[in-house]
Amino acid sequence: MVEPQALPVIDLSLLGDEGHDSAVARQVAEACRRAGFFYVVGHGIDRRLLEDLVGAAREFFALPEEEKAEISMSLGGRAWRGFFPVGAELTSGHPDQKEGLYLGAELSKSDPRVRAATPLHGANLFPRRPERLRELILGYLDAMTQLGHRVMEAIALSLDLDRQWFRRTLTTDPTVLLRIFHYPPLPPASGELWSVGEHTDYGLLTLLAQDDSGGLEVRVAGGDWMAAPPIADSFVCNLGDMLDRMTGGLYRSTPHRVRNTSGRSRISVPFFFDPSWDAEVVPIVPGAAVRDDPQTRWDGRSPHGFSGRYGDYLLSKIGRVFPDLGEDVL
Ligand code: OGA
Ligand code: NI
Repeated sequence: MVEPQALPVIDLSLLGDEGHDSAVARQVAEACRRAGFFYVVGHGIDRRLLEDLVGAAREFFALPEEEKAEISMSLGGRAWRGFFPVGAELTSGHPDQKEGLYLGAELSKSDPRVRAATPLHGANLFPRRPERLRELILGYLDAMTQLGHRVMEAIALSLDLDRQWFRRTLTTDPTVLLRIFHYPPLPPASGELWSVGEHTDYGLLTLLAQDDSGGLEVRVAGGDWMAAPPIADSFVCNLGDMLDRMTGGLYRSTPHRVRNTSGRSRISVPFFFDPSWDAEVVPIVPGAAVRDDPQTRWDGRSPHGFSGRYGDYLLSKIGRVFPDLGEDVL
């Protein structure tokens, strides 16, 4: 692994202040072109909310397997929600050494998309215990959706678009997915075992809260891996395939992976802020010459071959990492 020539840390509290907007936009532009990864601080998310969420999640993961299985993903149907045990998700074709809760926007049965049986839309499966997890998750989803819009404003400015460009076109009704992961410690000589195998994220933007265990690694240009260590009160921010696609590769959806060798349980909470389900993904950097070799992509597929609605892209990816569920549900 290369020595961290550290990932940039960007203070979002300066955004919206005319005097500072262009400085923030410049930092974001540089971070997106280089690593496709940066940290945000000054993000306005209540530290207590996140601490309480992580605390409640730890209580949930410590429950007996049978109790966790009461909200198994296999019961979530097309909404694709619930609990999955260690080994159930296959990133890069191998079972990840993690368990998790798969969550999203809470929609009632009367919602038109739920009535139309649109995949990934529906109600969450909340655990019986700890009871407070439900409210914490819903509060966190709301707060993070606001932050997602805000980071996209900075990204719009960094591309010389007007501040609300994404909200007007692509993220009017964003697809938001939340996952809470528990990574048991890996044995020191873990060989081919990964907590999460190498992959890129699928949508626009991921905002990741990680505890202080470490283990996240990012593949920088040239193919070297570097650590993305925990920084207090920050979110790790990384770009997904759709931003790579839309900018003709100018902004990178950077491969990353996790290996928890801390000897402790690691909790992480990735929040995915993605285009509206029906949004057509169109290029925004005209004339950008795309240099992208599918052979260098983790699943051999380049997002630059894709055109169409975001929902279709997402389904094609998810079907590969959850093959059994993909067959049953879609
Ligand atoms: C992901 C991811 C990293 C982590 O969920 O896409 O890369 O630390 N997670 O959990
Ligand atoms: Ni990821």
